[in-house]
Amino acid sequence: MEGNIMVRGVARCWLCVGVLVLMTVAVSQAETKQKATNPCKYTKHLPTKKRKLCHGLEMLRAASTGEKKIVQELLNQTETTYLLAYTEREGWRRGFTALLLAAENNHTEVAKLLVDYGSDVNHTSSAIVYLMAENGALDTLKLVLNLSAVADVKTSFGLSPLLIGAWNGYSGVVKALLGVGANPDVKTPLTLYSPLYMAAKAGDKTMANYLLSARADINVVTSWGVTALMTAIVWGHEEVAKLLLDKGADPNLAEKDGMTPLHYCMVPREDEVEAGQKAIIKKKAELIRLLLEKCPDPTITDVTGKTALDLAKMSNSTELQTLLEGYNRSNCN
Ligand SMILES: *[C@@H]1O[C@H](CO)[C@@H](O)[C@H](O)[C@H]1NC(C)=O
Ligand SMILES: *[C@@H]1O[C@H](CO)[C@@H](O)[C@H](O)[C@H]1NC(C)=O
Ligand SMILES: *[C@@H]1O[C@H](CO)[C@@H](O)[C@H](O)[C@H]1NC(C)=O
Ligand SMILES: *[C@@H]1O[C@H](CO)[C@@H](O)[C@H](O)[C@H]1NC(C)=O
Ligand SMILES: *[C@@H]1O[C@H](CO)[C@@H](O)[C@H](O)[C@H]1NC(C)=O
Ligand SMILES: *[C@@H]1O[C@H](CO)[C@@H](O)[C@H](O)[C@H]1NC(C)=O
Repeated sequence: MEGNIMVRGVARCWLCVGVLVLMTVAVSQAETKQKATNPCKYTKHLPTKKRKLCHGLEMLRAASTGEKKIVQELLNQTETTYLLAYTEREGWRRGFTALLLAAENNHTEVAKLLVDYGSDVNHTSSAIVYLMAENGALDTLKLVLNLSAVADVKTSFGLSPLLIGAWNGYSGVVKALLGVGANPDVKTPLTLYSPLYMAAKAGDKTMANYLLSARADINVVTSWGVTALMTAIVWGHEEVAKLLLDKGADPNLAEKDGMTPLHYCMVPREDEVEAGQKAIIKKKAELIRLLLEKCPDPTITDVTGKTALDLAKMSNSTELQTLLEGYNRSNCN
């Protein structure tokens, strides 16, 4: 439950997290100069309970600011188990351990130290794996995965470490998660974006390859019925489009407007129109040639009753039109 609340907080508050991290970094840099050592050091005269509390709070502070020396100093004492399990008591980080704070703020050295000392890598719904994937902290991610941290958790917000890692473009993270058996076909809620869709949109051939090797569904669709192939075409990523076609992506699937990959080759995006007609046509022509090798059905019509050839005619490009007119599916194999 704590984990759920926490991760929902994280997901809702991307920007705040970014701002907080920046602020924390700024504060920590200022603080490191003044507080080079543990402020609880001189509280030995305090009752044990109060001293432990001081150490617990100091541990959380130092973990979130990445002050390795202080964390090491604290761990060097006898209360290690207590310190590793000590959590934030309030705010939306309630339940965060020092390791979670280090993971959130991407302090990999501190995170490694905490893991070495035996911090629970499964604490609060494996949010540790999620935060490390989000930050692209590959080394520490591998470390906790190697300790059998749960990789395939779905947060209450519906995101998983694989989705956030793919969304942020970390192909190494994607590979590591797939390596421990993470499900490649997880999807975001509502939009139903899959990691393969994200890789295709970003034109990340390496990531797409990892996902396909892990048997991701090549014809996976979003809530609008858009395939990874269509996305690669829309964003002009020929290499990814070629990879998908070579690995057997269906060239005839249509999304909710009835548009097939071939239809998508005919419509430029707005930002492409600004890039100039000639360049657009050249790119579209390359994509069409790739598609035509896979013998698509050119007679499929969209919801307005238009075939890809109709769209080509509307685009006023004789090159695209000629390409399609010269295509005879019965001679294709
Ligand atoms: C940890 O404790 C050992 C002895 O118990 C000491 O030699 C070492 O310097 C301490 N390390 C830190 C970082 O405090
Ligand atoms: C987190 O740290 C790792 C390793 O130090 C680094 O590669 C990665 O870019 C960092 N992530 C962010 C979001 O700064
Ligand atoms: C993972 O754990 C195995 C043993 O369980 C070990 O041989 C291997 O070196 C570890 N890998 C990493 C990256 O820590
Ligand atoms: C984390 O949880 C998984 C699944 O419950 C378990 O197999 C694994 O041993 C746990 N790892 C640690 C270090 O507790
Ligand atoms: C194609 O040409 C016609 C007539 O010249 C024009 O009305 C139409 O806007 C043009 N379409 C595009 C996409 O440029
Ligand atoms: C397509 O090719 C087949 C076989 O070569 C031929 O019979 C048919 O007339 C061709 N269709 C068109 C529209 O050219």
